[in-house]
Amino acid sequence: MSDSPILELEKVSMSFDGKQVLRDVSLILHQNETCGITGPSGCGKSTLLRIVNDLLSPISGTVRFQEKDVKEWDPQELRRRVVMVPQEAKMFPGTVRANLVWGLRVHGMAADDEQLKTILQEVQLWPIDLDGNAENLSGGQKQRVAIARALLLKPKVLLLDEPTSALDTESALAVEKTINDLLSDYKMAVLIVTHNKEQAKRFTSKIVELENLTEAS
Ligand SMILES: Nc1ncnc2c1ncn2[C@@H]1O[C@H](COP(=O)(O)OP(=O)(O)OP(=O)(O)O)[C@@H](O)[C@H]1O
Ligand SMILES: [Mg+2]
Repeated sequence: MSDSPILELEKVSMSFDGKQVLRDVSLILHQNETCGITGPSGCGKSTLLRIVNDLLSPISGTVRFQEKDVKEWDPQELRRRVVMVPQEAKMFPGTVRANLVWGLRVHGMAADDEQLKTILQEVQLWPIDLDGNAENLSGGQKQRVAIARALLLKPKVLLLDEPTSALDTESALAVEKTINDLLSDYKMAVLIVTHNKEQAKRFTSKIVELENLTEAS
């Protein structure tokens, strides 16, 4: 295993309209590591994931992916390797299949139905009608489509924003196991936002606890 970090956050700070949300958040992640992000609602957990993905720029501090500042990465290249599953699992108009391969298509890649079936089995969403309308799926099914869509890209860093909040415990455990199994296959690291202390304890090797800066000041 390589000793060089896959992801480094160095004193990352963020504010919106003069209100500070993140102050000096630092973190080092190596491949095979899973880190939990916890903290009260509004403390900046989703903001932090967006900064890692370079969807937002911090007011100060640096994020390095594979030892290179994310600002120096081509954004598309970066987001193929550092893949986010957002808090709200958005489906695009169209079939379940189209939604699953959406991320791959953006990056000029494809998957056949066999590959889709394998990944759907992994996230406990098989059998499912691949030709069905994705917008008709339940919240928990959408979450699993969103996770499968991300995993199909074989990310190096997977950013999960409360990925199992709409799942029953059994499905949540199955999804966690799949992600754990894929850590070494993909040589990946995972950053997971979770409110669930049990999940953080059983699933992560380190935890970053953010505080609510706006309420404190
Ligand atoms: N684009 C934005 N413009 C202005 N303010 C924003 C923006 N994004 C987030 N904020 C504010 O930053 C703070 C942190 O938001 P964020 O969504 O990161 O919190 P969170 O920890 O993910 O909360 P939750 O647990 O409810 O999902 C909130 O006060 C939010 O209103
Ligand atoms: Mg959030």
